[in-house]
Amino acid sequence: MPRSFFLCLIFLAGAVAIAIPSKPQVRFLTYEEARPLLQSLGEALPAELKGQSAEECARVWPAWVKAQDSAVRARLRRGDEDTLINFLLFGASFSKRPRVTAQELSRSQQSQDAFDKLIDARIDDLIRSLGDQKAAGQNERLRFLRKLVIGQGMRPEDPAGRAKLREYILANLLRTLREQESYSRTIAAARLQGNPGEEFIGRSKLYRERGLSLDTTLAPNFAIEESLKAMKARGLIRAESVRRVGVIGPGLDFTDKAAGYDFYPEQTIQPFALIDSLLRLGLAKANELRITAFDISPRALAHLAAARMRAMRGSAYVTQLPRDPQAMWKPDLVRYWESFGDQIGKPAAPAPAPAGLSELKLRAVRVTPAFVARVTPVDLNIVYQRMSEPQNFDLIIATNILVYYEVFEQSLALANIESLLREGGFLLSNNALLELPNSKMKSVDYLTVVYSDRPDDGDHIVWYQRAGTRQ
Ligand SMILES: C[S@@+](CC[C@H](N)C(=O)[O-])C[C@H]1O[C@@H](n2cnc3c(N)ncnc32)[C@H](O)[C@@H]1O
Repeated sequence: MPRSFFLCLIFLAGAVAIAIPSKPQVRFLTYEEARPLLQSLGEALPAELKGQSAEECARVWPAWVKAQDSAVRARLRRGDEDTLINFLLFGASFSKRPRVTAQELSRSQQSQDAFDKLIDARIDDLIRSLGDQKAAGQNERLRFLRKLVIGQGMRPEDPAGRAKLREYILANLLRTLREQESYSRTIAAARLQGNPGEEFIGRSKLYRERGLSLDTTLAPNFAIEESLKAMKARGLIRAESVRRVGVIGPGLDFTDKAAGYDFYPEQTIQPFALIDSLLRLGLAKANELRITAFDISPRALAHLAAARMRAMRGSAYVTQLPRDPQAMWKPDLVRYWESFGDQIGKPAAPAPAPAGLSELKLRAVRVTPAFVARVTPVDLNIVYQRMSEPQNFDLIIATNILVYYEVFEQSLALANIESLLREGGFLLSNNALLELPNSKMKSVDYLTVVYSDRPDDGDHIVWYQRAGTRQ
């Protein structure tokens, strides 16, 4: 374990002794580390570096890499604005009107006029709730969105602020609809080429210009478990050999873009899902497993840090697992949902679904504090930053994060992931990443996991391994 993880405090939480690590040191990627990649990528380089001499690149690099890091972090705000729109369309905590999901729309066959009126009324409800300090104070999602809009100069209490807010919401709604259309067109065009490999490569950077959203759902964790199962069966990962695990971008379930819900507290799923899977598959020992959750979102990081602090005082973490029977999940995914959490906690009473969502199947799991305390959040931009000390991760998971970057940034991220992994360690990602000749990260295989009978509902999980033999 590196020095930066040395224990500085020991707490007693019930019978469990839990250690708090000191703040891990993170630093920017240096020019020397990036140089081999810059040399191989030629045409894919950003304008500021393309065609420049090595001396010039080395000179501009330190300021450039910091500016890029800031630019990436600035994309979080547009992601928050996307979240505002998901909340507007799907939220049930601020409006009693029907949710505006694709499913609902096709079921009810509403006219355009009725649809416009519904959206209009939902915007009214949202603005009213954002302006109601008491309501917003009691609802963490409203509280966050209120801060977001006030931060941009729109006070929902004032008539002028409300008018501006309406324009802002409408502009963001139109932007997200336009973006959705353009993603659908890109996917359709890629499919027309009739080459599934090329289509996957195209999809793997689909959101490169999109705001960074925190959306997270259960399904990708099922695909990760299926991959780990297959890797164990193939002898790629030995029983009880996984000790250090990294989750890049664990996310935060606010009201996800697929038709998410807002009737339970915000939550993260992936770090706990991973512990659950590794124990279920016998790939890790409970007392040896350590998870590091790398993220750049202050909200995701604060959420994990707060859960960890509460766990140290003996509080469990409750994860809500809604399942929409209309989503036509495959039986294996339903089985995964049914057994989710049996290695890391006990079933809990699910949060009651509001009227209009009564068809949902609900489960909840109370994750044992000792497991929650095993997850350490670290603020690290995987594209432009590294840990200062050498690392030895056995396994890293990166789902639905690298899709937000283009090839050059994905390649930097892959080099940074390589620096975190031990020799022979694995990265599992649902993205196809460029494998440069001088990179030690090579894809070994991939697994396709289908979630439901709906078109395009599944993931290809690619297994990348850091060259070397140690297991
Ligand atoms: C869409 S969520 C995916 C959540 C989860 N992995 C899943 O598959 O359900 C993307 C997450 O990646 C994080 N993220 C985006 N860019 C990042 C970066 N450069 N470094 C670290 N985390 C990043 C976001 O803040 C967010 O938490």
